[in-house]
Amino acid sequence: MAVERTLSMIKPDATNRNLTGKINAKFEEAGLRIVAQKRIHLSQAQAGAFYAEHAERPFYGELCEFMCSAPIIVQVLEGEGAILKNREVMGATNPANAADGTIRKDFALSVGENSVHGSDSPEAAAREISFYFSGLELVG
Ligand code: PPS
Repeated sequence: MAVERTLSMIKPDATNRNLTGKINAKFEEAGLRIVAQKRIHLSQAQAGAFYAEHAERPFYGELCEFMCSAPIIVQVLEGEGAILKNREVMGATNPANAADGTIRKDFALSVGENSVHGSDSPEAAAREISFYFSGLELVG
């Protein structure tokens, strides 16, 4: 399987509860390597741009408001099949449906406050990584 990179965000509900280390441990235990990471505080405009594909969905305003309510961790994870593997480690969007041992099963509060985001395709990963990281921040 090819080595991939994917974009991950640790969301405000998790940073507020000081869960970054516990979540990062789940990535590392699954064989995902954190190759870039920083803590940022999104503006409303930046959150809106990141989630532009969801602009027509009823929860868009709530999602953007939540994502700029506190600092988040943005990170690039690397590993074999990293995009799918990260989605597996995260668990289902709604924690009520998430499998045991996944991040969302263990930590998420609701379908909105669900602790983590992960790119869902190679195209999304490329776009989302370049949204947050410059080439200089990505070591080979
Ligand atoms: S997924 O995983 O992308 O297929 O999930 P989807 O249902 O398309 O949801 C996309 C993102 O919107 C968030 N979401 C919500 N936020 C607030 N309120 C409600 N009701 C809600 N429903 C979905 C969901 O957490 C997804 O966030 P990301 O950051 O993309 O994982």
